Amino acid sequence: MTFFEATCTAPVNIAVVKYWGKRDTTLILPTNSSLSVTLSQDQLHSKTTIRASADFEAQGGDRLWLNGIEESIQSNKRLVACLRETRAQRKAMEQADPALPKIHSWAVHICSENNFPTAAGLASSASGYACLVYTLAKLYQLPLNASDLSMVARQGSGSACRSLFGGFVAWEMGTRDDGLDSRAVQIAPETHWPDLQALICVVSDAKKGTSSTEGMQHTVKTSPLLQHRIKEVVPQRMKDMIAAIHAKDFPRFAELTMQDSNQFHAVCLDTYPPIFYMNDISRAIIRIITEYNRTGIKAAYTYDAGPNAVIYAPKENMPEIYALLNHYFPGAVFDDQLGLRNDPRAVAAN
Ligand code: PMV
Repeated sequence: MTFFEATCTAPVNIAVVKYWGKRDTTLILPTNSSLSVTLSQDQLHSKTTIRASADFEAQGGDRLWLNGIEESIQSNKRLVACLRETRAQRKAMEQADPALPKIHSWAVHICSENNFPTAAGLASSASGYACLVYTLAKLYQLPLNASDLSMVARQGSGSACRSLFGGFVAWEMGTRDDGLDSRAVQIAPETHWPDLQALICVVSDAKKGTSSTEGMQHTVKTSPLLQHRIKEVVPQRMKDMIAAIHAKDFPRFAELTMQDSNQFHAVCLDTYPPIFYMNDISRAIIRIITEYNRTGIKAAYTYDAGPNAVIYAPKENMPEIYALLNHYFPGAVFDDQLGLRNDPRAVAAN
């Protein structure tokens, strides 16, 4: 059997200025710019292997296995979009260089797995789609320009575009209708702020009730607060966050991160009927961190579309923060499977 194959891993990113709302649901164009920190691949990552073969057509065409279970590709429009885009680029290369094997028309088998809970608000779609697009680009030997690939990954899952880079990454919302200026750019590399770390608190690894896709559209349709956030808050917050990152000003970075998480969840609560992503444990962690910060900001919490907390803090504070959270939630908060209880699981932020 003749085949071509590529395997890649991709990291998770956790936003400190959240993306929430689409102005175009097909191209996945956001209603605001966003900014995230890419976490180390050592702890959390997606891993994808893709094989293309002329023989696969007779074996059911394109097929996908997610965490070992086969899923339908055809019903997944976003995955189909990523395949279509990368195949079109490969086809153009083959037309320009007839010596290249014509693999763009071969069916593919895609195997992808996460080493952490899928769809529990731990950005699994971000690492998953970033990994899919990067692996397709390697398979098809496309030019690996991360910003260009981010425009393809964006069409899989918006936040995935930011996982194409390490370090501190902005997704510039752009203004064009065709999305050609809606792409990720690196604000600072992973080496910029090695002292900053992230602690993941797995409050629950259950699949979330309202998907981010559903939640966003419900918010765009029903929340007046979202309009205020988009127009009056995020543009200035992006500038302030970039300045705080460049200056490695942790108290400012932390304050902006917590304010943005609060506003994102306030916007969800502002929908009708309301959406809740945090639970009682999530809110208790907010109170603990707020109390811990009373004498000076030493940690920042942030929550995505789920109950799990991500705590950003300077490395030297991590053992204390871990001990504090473990004191209040002995055994309950941290997921054994991830080994989060055994040591100060400070997932390096770069
Ligand atoms: O990329 P999606 O559709 O899973 O949306 C992610 C949205 C948040 O995680 C809540 C925020 C963000 O910017 O990552």
